[in-house]
Amino acid sequence: MQLLPHLALVSLVSLVAAQDLGVPLSWRKFSNTRPIAERITIAQNAINQMTPQLNAATGEFNGIGYWQSGNVWSVLANQDHLAGTTTNKALVVNNLNLVFSRWAHYDQFGFNDDAMWWAQAALYGYRAYADTNLLAHAVDVWTHVTGYVITPAQASARKNPNKAFTLESTCGGATMAGGVFWQTSTSDQSVNSITTGLYITLSAFLAEYTKNATYTAAAIQSANWIKAHNINANDLVLDTVNAFDCSTSPASWLFTYNSGKYIEGLSVLAAVTGDTQWSTLAINILNAAVKTTAWEGADGIITEGVSTTSNNDGVGFKAIFIRGIHEAWTRNPSNTALRTLIHSYGDVQYNALLDLAATGSTYSSNWHGPPQAFTSWGQLAALDVLTSNIDTN
Ligand SMILES: *[C@@H]1O[C@H](CO)[C@@H](O)[C@H](O)[C@H]1NC(C)=O
Repeated sequence: MQLLPHLALVSLVSLVAAQDLGVPLSWRKFSNTRPIAERITIAQNAINQMTPQLNAATGEFNGIGYWQSGNVWSVLANQDHLAGTTTNKALVVNNLNLVFSRWAHYDQFGFNDDAMWWAQAALYGYRAYADTNLLAHAVDVWTHVTGYVITPAQASARKNPNKAFTLESTCGGATMAGGVFWQTSTSDQSVNSITTGLYITLSAFLAEYTKNATYTAAAIQSANWIKAHNINANDLVLDTVNAFDCSTSPASWLFTYNSGKYIEGLSVLAAVTGDTQWSTLAINILNAAVKTTAWEGADGIITEGVSTTSNNDGVGFKAIFIRGIHEAWTRNPSNTALRTLIHSYGDVQYNALLDLAATGSTYSSNWHGPPQAFTSWGQLAALDVLTSNIDTN
């Protein structure tokens, strides 16, 4: 009878380890044979259709929001990073400096996620061009947003100095420490996954670039917040927890970018710490997220953020997801099954854009098509797929 608990434990462990990273055979066209030079050209041509929409006075793009504009700069920097070019360098550096000079901490509207989308762009710019001003912008935003991260002491005292209400110390039995407030307003109570996921990613990249353990500790503390509070039973990242009363966003609020940004942050954190619990968690979420019916059908093509006649926030989410799983691809070079899965999923989106949604080098936000005239938001959504496929194809 002594054996039973032992056996039960063994089978539980093997269940967890036996993650099936297989590619669903129902996916539409999960490979393609375009050579790398062609993939670089396809992605840069799409960028070249976006840049005429730049408003030179603001550093933002016509037709999309502030956070989405920050993400255009991200993909321009990543294009140069992956292609080994400097084609976009002057535009990226000059405009990230311009916007930083216009809005303290990149905070135009009192949203910490907005500030960090731009700080993230600055970090990708630093990665691509080694421009230390861009690194300094990211550190400035990190320091600013850190005032909105619930510390263990604040969770115990039930008080954050930037908030005018009493916090819950714990929600669902887990400490609220590590959660990051979405907005800077003293009354807003939301702690959400995208703001916390951005903070994890920023912290992990800063830890990698500066070797300063303060950033590593911050990334771990916030990674633990999402892990404890905001992952559903199907391994998808949920949206919001209210720090005043522990109420949550509806279970149906499932958005690609919440999982995508967390996957990105965990992938970098795993590399920085060497702690495989973070890569294992990232891989579990990734495997669920590329197969869920929440945002794709049996063909694998993402259906979230289809908006052909007007912009909305949701159009920009899938770009963040694709960028996040690209980081997982980069950080797990010897995990062949994972890399095949990311490659295949990326090619499904790539082939859909090129076969079904393209008008020349411009793309509809509906990746099933039909093609339509250029929109800034459709183009934004496509850019990360085209650039990521330089690597993952
Ligand atoms: C590490 O980073 C923190 C946060 O930005 C900063 O306060 C501290 O001075 C840094 N430490 C060193 C040795 O640079």
